[in-house]
Amino acid sequence: MNLEETAKKMCQKGKGILAADESTGTIEKRFKTINVENTEINRVSFRETLFSSQAMKNYIGGVILFDETIRQKSSRGIPIPELIKNNGAIPGIKVDKGAKKLAGSTDETITEGLDGLRERLKEYYDLGARFTKWRAVYKITSNFPSLQCIKSNAHALARYASLVQEANMVPIVEPEVLMDGDHDIEKCFQVTANVLNECYNELALHKVNLRGTVLKPNMILPGIECGNKVSSTEIAQKTIQCLKKNVPDSVPGIAFLSGGQSEIESSRNLNEINKINNTSFVFTFSYGRGLQASALKAFGQNKKDIKNIQNKFNHRAKMNGLSSSGKWSEDLEDQSVA
Ligand code: 13P
Repeated sequence: MNLEETAKKMCQKGKGILAADESTGTIEKRFKTINVENTEINRVSFRETLFSSQAMKNYIGGVILFDETIRQKSSRGIPIPELIKNNGAIPGIKVDKGAKKLAGSTDETITEGLDGLRERLKEYYDLGARFTKWRAVYKITSNFPSLQCIKSNAHALARYASLVQEANMVPIVEPEVLMDGDHDIEKCFQVTANVLNECYNELALHKVNLRGTVLKPNMILPGIECGNKVSSTEIAQKTIQCLKKNVPDSVPGIAFLSGGQSEIESSRNLNEINKINNTSFVFTFSYGRGLQASALKAFGQNKKDIKNIQNKFNHRAKMNGLSSSGKWSEDLEDQSVA
């Protein structure tokens, strides 16, 4: 498969991406909430349970892995990337080394990981990865994000994407404007527009073939602490308007992050977006928490009850699969796919 075919397959109609690439530190935070010890066995056991679920074949086009996971084997001795492939999805890998303090700014970050990336990419390709992810993070306050943060992160994202295509993999470009704060939806729109604009300027400068990329943006939402709540319809309209204006048509797939929305909110908003989609973009999901929260809770209740954990994941994957075609409805949430 060439890059353009891979990008299309990752975001094909009715399917999306499972972001299971939490670093060891982040998964520790998630496990703490369910009283599970953060051991290598528990990490692989939870992930293997999801990757062998029924829903994989129908609703998941790609799975993003963390460095540790791509090297692990399932309890039956199957390498994890092979398990994912056998279940119909494409294995991918997070290649950034995290958001680090940005020198010269008081409270912003720059995502690192470019040093030695060419060599690491070769290794990941050999381990079975066919796409990658790099996440840049932007915080909204009265002063932020600064131009320095917007420009330096766009530059890093473009250098990353260019190296990834050189290694014959599809880069997921993830500029995440955080939901934290009390800003309104207009502010999120404005900041996201500026961030996307700068990203696509840099991607062009670095000669990235946009047809062989996937964009992973935030939806246009008010901050979590904003008093002014808005409807899903408004979220959908503003999200489409912002992406239509600031993302070139040649980008084949846009796979949203859930970013702290609840499972239902992230399904509802994606569904609204697809109901009114008047663009040539395929809009789908690349959710971490939005796909895994219920399954994680079930894992905390009883790690050995594979059926229950998989039922929870199957249900969420199906709901988001429906949302990516604009066919989700609240009533379906009550029906289990056991
Ligand atoms: P969330 O859907 O939990 O935001 O995670 C997606 C992701 O991959 C963040 O980088």
